[in-house]
Amino acid sequence: MRRIGLFDSGLGGLITARWVWMRRPKVDLLYYGDTAHLPYGDKSPAQLRGYVREIVRFLIAAGAEGIGIACNTASAVAVDVAQEVAAGLPVWDAIQPTLAYFRAHRLPEPVGVIGTYTTIRSHLYGRALSQMGYTVKELATPLLVPLIEEGWTKHPATRAALRTYLTELGEVRTLVLACTHYPLLVPLIRRYYLRRGQDVKIISTARLLAEAICSPLTDSGQKGSLTLWLSDPNPRFIALASRFWGSPLRPMPLPCPS
Ligand code: DGL
Repeated sequence: MRRIGLFDSGLGGLITARWVWMRRPKVDLLYYGDTAHLPYGDKSPAQLRGYVREIVRFLIAAGAEGIGIACNTASAVAVDVAQEVAAGLPVWDAIQPTLAYFRAHRLPEPVGVIGTYTTIRSHLYGRALSQMGYTVKELATPLLVPLIEEGWTKHPATRAALRTYLTELGEVRTLVLACTHYPLLVPLIRRYYLRRGQDVKIISTARLLAEAICSPLTDSGQKGSLTLWLSDPNPRFIALASRFWGSPLRPMPLPCPS
């Protein structure tokens, strides 16, 4: 398998893509950023399932041999849709690798889970972790994605939003970043806990998803590539994504709807 299709609403899935790319530079990544529908976190499940159906169809038509749902929100409500469209091709969702990690390691508790409204409302993390015997606290943190997409990863407004959310979450010993955008906030999150003298283990669902995707991939042949499509190729997003990726990104034109 050499060509992997990944998607998310925007920047978050690119974080997963970048980790895959760093570990498997000979793989061809096909990335679809659904920027026209960003953020995903406040959309209804029915709406999200429609987006996922179209995107997975598109990526498979573009040659993807496996699909990574680099989004917890879409994973929470539409894995079955992706699997149905992928018709037997491998599909990795953003939630299972983290649950597998918890099954394999006993982590300190209470465990905090932060994510979008849709992810938190699904209680997929809360239920599974409780069944494993953990004390779990879940909290929707909907302002974080827009702040990240604004490029405000160090901004005082983001610090204030995080402080409000993490205070509301209360004391935790492990924090699950149940949104693939959130790794960009790890320095601020670490600082919040450090200042309070709390030792909190941070679990990134984006990184664990990247590891799950990488494990069956062979890394041979010539250097791979990143092909990017955006449902709304707005220049601000492209500039931010290029800064984050480390080189200029040029989205491919999407075919006109028939
Ligand atoms: N990064 C996505 C997630 O993991 C989607 C965030 C959003 O667009 O609200 O949930």
